[in-house]
Amino acid sequence: DSWYADQIERTIITEDELRSKVAELADRVSSDFADTDELLLVGVFKGAVMFMADFARALSVPVKMEFMALSSYGNATSSSGTVRILKDIDSDVSGKHIVVVEDIIDSGLTLSWLLKYLDGLNPESVSVVSMLRKPGVQRVDIPIKYLGFDIPNEFVVGYGLDYAERYRELPFIGVLKPQVYQR
Ligand code: PRP
Ligand code: MN
Ligand code: MG
Repeated sequence: DSWYADQIERTIITEDELRSKVAELADRVSSDFADTDELLLVGVFKGAVMFMADFARALSVPVKMEFMALSSYGNATSSSGTVRILKDIDSDVSGKHIVVVEDIIDSGLTLSWLLKYLDGLNPESVSVVSMLRKPGVQRVDIPIKYLGFDIPNEFVVGYGLDYAERYRELPFIGVLKPQVYQR
């Protein structure tokens, strides 16, 4: 068994389901931006790293990649609403088509803040691809053009998503056993 086998309550999205969803989302984005030679992916550290890497390789259009690091959660399991830039974009994005790559939209506060920030940089367009969303819990209205899965309002880990910085490397999305939180 893997080291995490006894820490996972159940799997929400399997590795296979993630793989085919990545391909499906990448196909949609590739066809929507087929005539664009300036597509810029903006991945949000750290959670989006796995998705960004898979998504970029599944696209059939050329891209440039930027990463931003924002933090709103720290080690807590719910959002504080406070967003800080830990790492900014390195290049000039004005006139570029931006696709923001996220792992999950929870309260929506992180992305809401980021979209306003990016709009201020005068890009040609900004759209969002997110692997996951928890429906009904957004505290702000977020336009997500490319969505992987709606999932139940539970704390999930894996495929980039962490609990106290752990479990990001799990190849699937799952829920931890309650005892993990009590350690
Ligand atoms: C998580 C997740 C999203 C954000 C979603 O990031 O990766 O970026 O929270 O939550 P929200 O919609 O309520 O704002 P986190 O701040 O935990 O940082 P991380 O990506 O480094 O884990
Ligand atoms: Mn994140
Ligand atoms: Mg986190």
